[in-house]
Amino acid sequence: MKLNVAVQMDPIARINIRGDSTFALLLEAQRRGHGLSYYTPDKLSMLGDKLVAPVQLLTVRDEPGNHFTLGEPRRESLTAFDVILLRQDPPFDLAYITSTHFLERIHPKTLVVNDPASVRNAPEKLFVMNFPQLMPPTLISRDLQEINAFRDTHGAVVMKPLHGFGGAGVFRVMPQDMNFGSLYDMFSVTFREPWVIQRFLPEVKQGDKRIIMVDGEFAGAVNRVPAADDLRSNMVRGGAARATELTAREREICATVGPALRERGLLFVGLDVIDGNLTEINVTSPTGIQEVRRFGGADIAALIWDAIEKIRKVR
Ligand SMILES: Nc1ncnc2c1ncn2[C@@H]1O[C@H](COP(=O)(O)OP(=O)(O)O)[C@@H](O)[C@H]1O
Ligand SMILES: [Mg+2]
Repeated sequence: MKLNVAVQMDPIARINIRGDSTFALLLEAQRRGHGLSYYTPDKLSMLGDKLVAPVQLLTVRDEPGNHFTLGEPRRESLTAFDVILLRQDPPFDLAYITSTHFLERIHPKTLVVNDPASVRNAPEKLFVMNFPQLMPPTLISRDLQEINAFRDTHGAVVMKPLHGFGGAGVFRVMPQDMNFGSLYDMFSVTFREPWVIQRFLPEVKQGDKRIIMVDGEFAGAVNRVPAADDLRSNMVRGGAARATELTAREREICATVGPALRERGLLFVGLDVIDGNLTEINVTSPTGIQEVRRFGGADIAALIWDAIEKIRKVR
């Protein structure tokens, strides 16, 4: 079965094809003979009850510096596609939320991956709070008294923006930390929403594990070890990818969270786990496919297309 696929993504000229998960998905789709079209999020319009975009036919190649060819833009209604890959990068802001409102109109007749309404309803650091038994102690607040009470109970904490990504604005705050007052003030003026205060997990030195789930099932994992002088394991912050296996606790996390992902049409998801503590459920545009493969893990791009093809067939 050949599918007519469109990808909504940030400019393809700028990606690093040796690390980008979207690129791995596109290569695999093309290998299977699916048709590929491309548009960037800023080109998506709602005209009455229709969604339109100037889509371009896309060919991809595994050649750095020569990794894509685009056809001429042609205005198309998005219902013409069998599948839309929603691979727009964060920030998860009102522009992103508007994208999910648009795409919700055509899903699931056109299968949008991940389900746009679910993406909107499951911000990574909020959705995870459905599983407090799997998490470190966590507070989401901007109330100074509440934050102080949490610090009194838990000692060293991490403070991070609720809708942050890529490790931006993640701070460790020690008990009696003389920087806390200013940090609190800075967070208060920078963010209108509450932020995350979480028990600091010193085991982060051994890494923050990215566990990839495909349609609610474990698909692969990679450990990310922070640089010696950084708290943050994110690869964009110099975190180093390492081969890894799942512990019994991590298998339990997958088994607990998996059904909730499947139920919500969250087909491609990245769980972040520090020393057996679930900290994030990444649903907007998770990464890690290529790293898993590099360390001898599963071909997750193939697993994702298997899942998409299966869903399209049963509908
Ligand atoms: N509670 C914590 N204890 C120790 N390190 C943490 C904690 N929370 C986050 N970190 C570090 O900060 C990084 C980024 O935090 P994360 O919650 O994953 O937000 P982001 O969305 O920016 O990736 C993590 O990969 C980890 O290295
Ligand atoms: Mg993270």
